[in-house]
Amino acid sequence: MFVPGRVNIIGEHTDYNDGLSLAFAVERGVRIEVRTRSDGATWLHLENQQPHEMGTAHAPNLSLAMADAVWRRYPRSGIDLEVTSDLPDSAGLSSSAAYLGALSLACGARGSLLDLARVIQACEADVGSNVGLLDQIATLGGERSSALLIDFSQNQIGSVPLPAHWAFTVMHSEVSRVLAESGYSQRRRECLEITQIAGSWADLTDDLLVGLPDSLRPRARHVLSENRRVTEMVDCANRDDIERAGQLLNESHASLRDDFAVSTPEVDQLVARVQVLHGVHGARMMGGGFGGCLIALHEPDVSVVLEGHRSWTVHPSDGGLRRLIR
Ligand code: GLA
Repeated sequence: MFVPGRVNIIGEHTDYNDGLSLAFAVERGVRIEVRTRSDGATWLHLENQQPHEMGTAHAPNLSLAMADAVWRRYPRSGIDLEVTSDLPDSAGLSSSAAYLGALSLACGARGSLLDLARVIQACEADVGSNVGLLDQIATLGGERSSALLIDFSQNQIGSVPLPAHWAFTVMHSEVSRVLAESGYSQRRRECLEITQIAGSWADLTDDLLVGLPDSLRPRARHVLSENRRVTEMVDCANRDDIERAGQLLNESHASLRDDFAVSTPEVDQLVARVQVLHGVHGARMMGGGFGGCLIALHEPDVSVVLEGHRSWTVHPSDGGLRRLIR
């Protein structure tokens, strides 16, 4: 069972705001081998950790607590689950969604993409991580050579073929995401307040932004402008306009930095350095923010590398569910 990680081309912090994202599953991910055992127990084997018997109280760490959350929904007995991963942790490439997706499928979970995505989201919520649906949908539903256009207002998913010469690299800022959990929760609370005032995201227009409190106005402005950028990015992919696509990434970064305030000075500096590299059309921070990776759009014949920062060129790949039925 293999479920990949994901990158998000554009559409950040829009998933829990009924907005739009354009994302794809990558080649790297989490693999789980299942072996039967005769004693009826279920054991999880994670790299560099003591084996853990699933379902026993008080899992000692987060990865094991997540495994127990999956297991409680899909209890299986008499198996060993051997987990390996080539996804960097805490980088914003959705290693936890890939891990929970692979565990669910390995435990026998089956269903529609949305049903499985929701169950995995609920497992993350069980362990205190109140995330949207972007990561689960992209890691399970990804498609080779295409990005997924996800409309979270209706949970509709479309496929957007990407021009073959559009190359994407993710680079690790190497900034530890210490504030990520608390910062993410705070943004979620602020966005909830916006809808309590405005009624719903569908009711909110640029003209109505003036009616919001000063502290919330920039947050709402980011969500509205980011949704427009997603729509324009799809248009760029259809017209093969890599130059404008790059500018949209740069604009998205400015909005995440200035309006949504989820970047850090170190990430801003790194993004600025990458944006001007030869062959790079644009770059922005990616994922929840407060550290983690950036994503760059570039010409296929250049390598986007900077000393001291790990980077990976990524290609749209099949998600976990597609690999299952292939
Ligand atoms: C994290 C969450 C997603 C999404 C992004 C921001 O990756 O898991 O649900 O909210 O942040 O776009």
